[in-house]
Amino acid sequence: MARTVYLNGEYLPETEASVSIFDRGFLMADGVYEVTSVLGGRLVDFAGHAKRLERSLNALDMKMPMTEEALLEIHRELVRRNDLEDGLIYLQVTRGAPGDRDFIFPDPATTPLTVVLFTQSKPNLADSPEAKRGLKVISIEDIRWGRRDIKTVQLLYPSMGKMMAKAAGADDAWMVEDGKVTEGTSNNAYIVKDGRIITRELSHDILHGITRAAVLRFAEEAQMKVEERSFTIEEAQAADEAFITSASSFVTAVIQIDGVTLGEGVPGPVAQRLRQIYLEESRARAV
Ligand SMILES: Cc1ncc(COP(=O)(O)O)c(C=O)c1O
Repeated sequence: MARTVYLNGEYLPETEASVSIFDRGFLMADGVYEVTSVLGGRLVDFAGHAKRLERSLNALDMKMPMTEEALLEIHRELVRRNDLEDGLIYLQVTRGAPGDRDFIFPDPATTPLTVVLFTQSKPNLADSPEAKRGLKVISIEDIRWGRRDIKTVQLLYPSMGKMMAKAAGADDAWMVEDGKVTEGTSNNAYIVKDGRIITRELSHDILHGITRAAVLRFAEEAQMKVEERSFTIEEAQAADEAFITSASSFVTAVIQIDGVTLGEGVPGPVAQRLRQIYLEESRARAV
């Protein structure tokens, strides 16, 4: 069955939604995106994603195309029209289609932003086999641009990173810059040592994960110790546990890094507890 998607004010069958070849998202990766998870037909952390969308847009001289309430209504309408129980809502905003290719930004008064949203159904999203077994990651050099805090659609290198991981028989890659882990290709990276949760501090070097913010808040509420600092691959390999967070994977344990198995090679107690707390709290607060 064709999905119903949203494009610039209209709900359309996916086969009828099309964007201009001059769209700057297509020609220049001049756009930003958000991914919000849906559990039991309700949106997880919607307000956080809406806030980060505005931040990404403003950093690139674009404005929110509508109010947060209007955006929420579109998300909910897509959940309803597609009967979505568990899955994701992908949202992308680009600088629009000026009708020709030019490096100079078009005038927003005459070139409206392009706004696209679609659903991705993922039955039993919170019950994935990867979360049960834990992930294997490899390390790769982080050669992305310097504003990774802006959630742009320039995802070629992260996509290549996933392919490098796949070719190496792993699930994902952690990126390393100046000897320190920045983040995963599509998630934030953590290690656990002597009961302390360690994750890189916020800066332009990493995406400010919405799941990261929630998980660190829940960890502190549960009296767990959190240290925001960078770490090396060697430190991670010697850690008691490791895990990642993202809107689509929630909290997922990492059990192997560059071929070195952590502990018993199964998801550790801290990662499992945080996953459980995160899922419980997210379900309770979903809108
Ligand atoms: C590079 C990167 N880091 C971190 C994250 C996690 O962010 P969030 O928890 O908001 O999904 C993502 C999510 O797509 C990402 O692409």
